[in-house]
Amino acid sequence: MGCFCCFRQEPEEEEEEEESIKAEPARTNHPLSTLFRNISFQAESKRHWALIEEILKIGNGNPTARVFTFAELSAATQSFKLECLLGEGGFGRVYKGHLEETNQDIAVKQLDRNGLQGNKEFIVEVLMLSLLHHPNLVNLIGYCADGAQRILVYEFMPLGSLEDHLLDLSPSKKPLDWNTRMKIAQGAAKGLEYLHDMAHPPVIYRDFKASNILLDENYNPKLSDFGLAKVGPVGDKSHVSTRVMGTYGYCAPEYAMTGQLSTMSDVYSFGVVLLEIITGRRVIDTSRPSDEQNLVQWAEPLFKDKKRFAEMADPLLEGKYTTKGLYQALAVAAMCLQEEASTRPLMSDVVTALEYLMVSNSDPVDQRQDSRGSKAGTETGSNKEKDEDEWRQPENGIGS
Ligand SMILES: Nc1ncnc2c1ncn2[C@@H]1O[C@H](COP(=O)(O)OP(=O)(O)OP(=O)(O)O)[C@@H](O)[C@H]1O
Ligand SMILES: [Mg+2]
Repeated sequence: MGCFCCFRQEPEEEEEEEESIKAEPARTNHPLSTLFRNISFQAESKRHWALIEEILKIGNGNPTARVFTFAELSAATQSFKLECLLGEGGFGRVYKGHLEETNQDIAVKQLDRNGLQGNKEFIVEVLMLSLLHHPNLVNLIGYCADGAQRILVYEFMPLGSLEDHLLDLSPSKKPLDWNTRMKIAQGAAKGLEYLHDMAHPPVIYRDFKASNILLDENYNPKLSDFGLAKVGPVGDKSHVSTRVMGTYGYCAPEYAMTGQLSTMSDVYSFGVVLLEIITGRRVIDTSRPSDEQNLVQWAEPLFKDKKRFAEMADPLLEGKYTTKGLYQALAVAAMCLQEEASTRPLMSDVVTALEYLMVSNSDPVDQRQDSRGSKAGTETGSNKEKDEDEWRQPENGIGS
């Protein structure tokens, strides 16, 4: 469930879009023409066409999204029955449904933002997910725009979100093991890499957080929620200036303070989520003592003191990880969390680093219990030194 969506409260249009209002694009022959016909733009029309034109620069795509009627989705979810409710976020409720004709489970998100107010996020999400296809992005099966209804239909992700498996776990729920955590981090990084490097112009996801990373039956992660995604800068521009939206705690400092949005803002958010994955702590947790409520601030002094790295590992891991793996994962997180956007790594570098981490630490999971029966958490001598040699701390540390 989402929390602290503090930047989303006023769904006003962004300033730069005011300036770029152009004529309507040729809609009739476009592969997404069904979408154009299905959405009543009313007074918002011109701004939305400008937005659509901007997104369509990414390409024509292969729109496989199907148009559903409200009656079809009502039947699929047993009239949006409460028992079918999977969760609720800032934009509305998500229900589990089933399509009889294809014998397929689906997730149905009904936007509830006072009628047409959520139109912009709806359009962006449908367009983006129609144009972008990757194994680490959730698949949009279709949508419904009957009357004032704005409903998105996705593939059903049986294991829910990363948040459900990582944060505020009930004692009965099995925590994720280290290898699964790294697998999720790597897959999510690949999703962002695709948006930044394969899409032209690049796409900035803008809402990278644990609840937006959904998991299939094998814990393969897929990014969901593209309503806030934004076409990135082109040419020699380093950023786009835009209204600050996203989720408190995950936003990069330069974006939160000045509205300067770049792919590096996503890299920062990735660093926050990676830190959540390693620590099992929520980015903002008001139930903790005041000096531990902000995860990044709590981690700052620990990042600078190698002897305290083990304090950052999630206690629910019970020490089942290698020292080297922990150090490497923390190094990646620290680099992504650099205050200065230009010193953060590219997502392609992050993917490479996580791939290396997984390959070089691919021994059996319980590596801390070595053959002599000693715990790796207390290991001494050459192994420990070797592990520490492989640790490369970012030159500036974080927050410096
Ligand atoms: N495709 C899906 N398959 C299975 N469960 C899903 C799917 N999409 C969403 N969910 C569930 O519904 C919950 C609510 O999702 P939603 O995206 O509406 O809100 P959120 O991500 O928690 O918050 P926010 O609105 O701030 O993004 C998710 O946390 C997840 O558990
Ligand atoms: Mg979400």
